[in-house]
Amino acid sequence: MTDANAEQYRITEEPFYRVVHDEDQLYTAAYEARMPMMLKGPTGCGKSRFVEYMAWKLGRPLITVACNEDMTASDLVGRYLLDAEGTRWQDGPLTVAARIGAICYLDEVVEARQDTTVIIHSLTDHRRELPLEKKGEVVKAHDDFQLVISYNPGYQNLMKDLKQSTKQRFAALDFDYPESEDESAIVAHETGIDPDAADKLVQIAHRARNLKGHGLDEGISTRLLVYAGNLMAKGVEPRSACMMSLVRPITDDPDMRDTLDAAVSTYF
Ligand SMILES: Nc1ncnc2c1ncn2[C@@H]1O[C@H](COP(=O)(O)OP(=O)(O)OP(=O)(O)O)[C@@H](O)[C@H]1O
Ligand SMILES: [Mg+2]
Repeated sequence: MTDANAEQYRITEEPFYRVVHDEDQLYTAAYEARMPMMLKGPTGCGKSRFVEYMAWKLGRPLITVACNEDMTASDLVGRYLLDAEGTRWQDGPLTVAARIGAICYLDEVVEARQDTTVIIHSLTDHRRELPLEKKGEVVKAHDDFQLVISYNPGYQNLMKDLKQSTKQRFAALDFDYPESEDESAIVAHETGIDPDAADKLVQIAHRARNLKGHGLDEGISTRLLVYAGNLMAKGVEPRSACMMSLVRPITDDPDMRDTLDAAVSTYF
């Protein structure tokens, strides 16, 4: 594997990430110990942005894989391809990451079937190796390689959860929506709207988050607040921006929409 290959996965510009506790220090210690990490938290709260930031900070290439239930072990480790010259092996993203010493981020790993997930086992214990069964090769992970997975607690059912033998190969960090002050600063920075408007968006989100489990499956995420701010920065009237990005995406229930709409109206 050439250097050029690692370069394409390198993050050259510092991603904007606002540290909200001491997660950067804890992650750094875990990386130094080459400990596999699990990032837990609701959708849109900053997990992916954090990994990008840490990869940049640690100077490691980052390879991200969005997992889904149709994903097979071959999609991760690689497969033989047929081309004009015959058959040719192509490494999958996990194999590339293990070879070049990247941070490999498996996003939404519970979506993958358990028979796919088990292939990470030998990479995430003392062996740190990945067997490419079809190729008859065992890849020894590069010293700098680290595996990171994300996990949305609460979305799982019994059929769709990680096995304990998978979970217990990772140390975990809990993520949640940032505290008001941080979240407001994030929204203002990401969108360019004024701090006062960002504050209002955050307060609307707090109202909605209190309704989780009382008619809402999930609260309004930081990501959606950024969407609302982006629309407002484009000149969309705040109430329409909120309707479009904070209310409609998260519920179809007319009463719940009215409730959220009323919350928006108290601020804008
Ligand atoms: N601490 C933070 N610093 C900077 N931006 C943040 C932070 N937290 C959230 N954001 C903003 O929220 C958006 C969504 O975050 P991100 O994509 O990282 O969510 P996620 O937790 O990975 O969600 P999912 O589980 O759906 O993949 C980011 O694009 C960024 O704008
Ligand atoms: Mg993500």
